[in-house]
Amino acid sequence: MSGTDAARVEILGAGVIGLAVADELRRRGHEVRVVDPAPARGASWAAAGMLSPAAEVWHDEPALLDLGRRSQASWPSWGDRLGVPLTRGGTLLVGLDADDLRDVKRQATLVRSLGGRVEDLDGARVRALEPTLAGRVLGGVLLPDDHSVDPRRVLAALLDRVPVQRDPGPAGWAEVTVLATGASLPSAYAARLGPGLVRGVRGEVLRARSDDPPTRPVRGWVRGRPVYVVPRADGEVVIGATSEEHDQPPVVTLGGVHRLLDAARELVPGLDRAELLEALARDRPGTANGLPLVGPTHDPRVVLATGHFRHGVLLAPLTAELVADHLESGRVDPATDPRRLLEDR
Ligand code: GLY
Repeated sequence: MSGTDAARVEILGAGVIGLAVADELRRRGHEVRVVDPAPARGASWAAAGMLSPAAEVWHDEPALLDLGRRSQASWPSWGDRLGVPLTRGGTLLVGLDADDLRDVKRQATLVRSLGGRVEDLDGARVRALEPTLAGRVLGGVLLPDDHSVDPRRVLAALLDRVPVQRDPGPAGWAEVTVLATGASLPSAYAARLGPGLVRGVRGEVLRARSDDPPTRPVRGWVRGRPVYVVPRADGEVVIGATSEEHDQPPVVTLGGVHRLLDAARELVPGLDRAELLEALARDRPGTANGLPLVGPTHDPRVVLATGHFRHGVLLAPLTAELVADHLESGRVDPATDPRRLLEDR
């Protein structure tokens, strides 16, 4: 379907992506039905909420950085519309030892080469900015344009605006179905689209309450192990995240918790006194080339909005616009066009 007439759109999946798409389509006057047996309890529920395109661009992924920046530019007005504040102040990337600091510098060089702002900091300046960090942290950089948001507040705000039904309604109502089911495509669609379009990459995450949290997101390498500590306004911190390819249901493992706690406490020693609130594991939806799948399939009644891997919260407003624009005008962003991965299927 394309054209400017109001459409009846069914969205499968009420995570941050499905809800953002639903909200945008409703705003533009379309009829929307959102279906999810467990609304807002998938990967978005575990997300740390870093609006951090520069810190997340690990390898040479300029297309991903570009998508992240475009979506980040929409976040201030989108957050305003939802009534959810952003936490500003940048993101610190830090390294504990010399090898870790080399990883930080490599990241900083990549971000700079892609036009991002980076401020170099020695150990003393890192601690002046963030006195909660361990004295042994060798140095780092500040990414002043990378912010954060509380995804659970975002989900609550979206659920207030978008009704969700747990059971599918009568078949045949929708002109278009948008698949926003994250790592688990419904089996009927997986069979049609081909196996392995999205794969689960397990992330384990901890939440704790600290009397001395960092004031901004801190991402670090601790003896080669990546970890992040993202503070919320109320003293809660999110500590993440493991990243593991697997084909089992995502469960919290003792090894995962141990690795996260070890690394986080080495970076921020005051976390030793923090109260552990929650440990959870979810599958992120990974794709073959690390880019999301947002746009048409070969079936004009099926549109994808999935494959956001580590970037669902960041990319939610852009994804909502891309899906709505596609349904109204047929426009497709080449970077996210799902047909590139469907060609051989
Ligand atoms: N975006 C952070 C993560 O997926 O762990």
